[in-house]
Amino acid sequence: MKRTLIRGGHFVDPENGMDGLFDIVIQDGIIAEVMASTSPEATPTGASKDGRTKSADEIVDAAGNLVVPGLIDMHTHLREPGYEYKETILTGCLAAAHGGFTAICCMPNTNPVNDNQSVTDFILKKARTAVGVRVYPVGAITRGLKGQSLAEYGEMKAAGVVALSDDGNPVTNGQLMRRAMEYAKGFELLVISHCEDLNLTAHGVMNEGAVATRLGLAGIPNASETVMVAREIALCELTGIPIHIAHVSTADSVHLIRDAKQRGLPVTAETAPHYFTLTEEAVLSYNTNAKVNPPLRTAADREAVRKGLADGTIDVIASDHAPHSTMEKEVEFDAAANGFVGLETSLPLSLSLVEMGYLSINDLITKMSVNPARILHRDTGGLCPGKPADVTVIDLAGEFTVDARSFRSKSRNTPFDGWKLKGKAVLTVVGGNIVFNEGLGVTNKR
Ligand code: DOR
Repeated sequence: MKRTLIRGGHFVDPENGMDGLFDIVIQDGIIAEVMASTSPEATPTGASKDGRTKSADEIVDAAGNLVVPGLIDMHTHLREPGYEYKETILTGCLAAAHGGFTAICCMPNTNPVNDNQSVTDFILKKARTAVGVRVYPVGAITRGLKGQSLAEYGEMKAAGVVALSDDGNPVTNGQLMRRAMEYAKGFELLVISHCEDLNLTAHGVMNEGAVATRLGLAGIPNASETVMVAREIALCELTGIPIHIAHVSTADSVHLIRDAKQRGLPVTAETAPHYFTLTEEAVLSYNTNAKVNPPLRTAADREAVRKGLADGTIDVIASDHAPHSTMEKEVEFDAAANGFVGLETSLPLSLSLVEMGYLSINDLITKMSVNPARILHRDTGGLCPGKPADVTVIDLAGEFTVDARSFRSKSRNTPFDGWKLKGKAVLTVVGGNIVFNEGLGVTNKR
C-alpha cells in the first residue's frame, strides 16, 4: 500500500468547484483524501510533524505551483504502427508526460489503419510498456479511412477504442456519416469529425486570401470547413446523436456551433493552440512548419476561435500533435506534410489565453481535462476521493524558450521553435505514479 502526499500546492479542481491551498493524499493509484493544506509553504519543516506527512511513503512538495486534474489530449497522432520514423507510442507518451498530459487519444491514421481489433490491441499492448501515460485509441469510422464502408465498431469497442474518427480525411458521403453515427451510438462511441470538403480544398495548401495570392500558393477557403460543420450539425439534428467537431479553425464554424448549442443540440468541439495563437501570416516565409490542415486562418478567425473558447462554444483544447520527419517538411511548400507537434507546447500556449484574459485557470483546466473526460466518458478529469490519481502540477511563472531539439517527441516540426513562453508542467502523475518530474522535491520514506 503506497501513500503519496502532494502538499502545499494551489489546487484547482473545476469539476468539484475547489480552488485553494489543498493537500492530496494518493493511495494505491486512487485519490484518498483532499484536505486543507497544513501550509508547508509557511512552515516547510514544521509540516513534517503532522500526521498526514508521517503516514506518507512519498511526499511531493508542490508549494508555489498549481495542482490540477491530469490533462487529457483528445487529439494526438502517435504514428505507430507504420510511421515509427515520425513517432512511436513510447516517444509520443514521453512527449505527453513532458507536456503535462496524463492521457492522450491517438488517431487511427496509422499503417495499418486502426480500423480493427488487432491494431487496437497492438496499440494498447505497446502503451502498457510505455511511460504510463494512458493511451485511448480512436478507431476509424470507415475501413482504411477510405470513406466507403463502415469499420467494425463492436470489435474495436471491445478491444478498447474510446471514439471514432477518420481524422485526416472527411467522410464525404453524408449518408454513410449518418449510418456511422447511428451505428456508433449502439456502442456508445463518440464520432469525431474532420470537417473538410475536399472539392473546395482542391489543391489548396494554405488559407485562401491575400497572403496566399502574394505567395502564389493555392488557397483553401473557410467554406471548405464550414460546409462540413453545417452538415454534421444537420446530421446531429436529424439523428439526435452527439457529434464532436475536430480542430475548429474558422469564425463561421464557431458561429454554427454556437447556434447549434443554443438550440440544444449535442454538438461538442475542439480547437488546437495554433488556431488561437497564429494566423496565415506565419506562412509568409514559405515556412513549411506553418503548414497544417485545416490551415492557419486570418486574425478575424483567430479572434472568433478565442471568443468561442471564452464563451464555451468550443469545449476542448486539443494539441492535434502531428509529428512529421524533416524529410517531409524540408521540401517545397506544396509537397510538405501537414501538421505540427504539439504535446510539449500545448499547455504553455493555452496558458497565454489566461494571460490575455480570454480564460480563467478554471476554464482552461475545464477545457484540457474536465471536458475531454466528460465527452469521452472517462472517470478522470477531477480529483475528488475515489477518482484515479491523475494529476498535473504546473509552474505558472516559469519562463522558457521552446527548443524543438529538446523535445521528447521524435519529430521537430513546430512553428513555435525559439518562442519564449510562460508556464509549463513540472510534474505528471498517472494512477499515482510519477511519470515526469522537472524539479519538484520528492521525499521517499520507503
Ligand atoms: O495537419 C494535419 N495533420 N491535419 C490532419 O488532419 C492530419 C494530421 C496528420 O495526420 O498529420
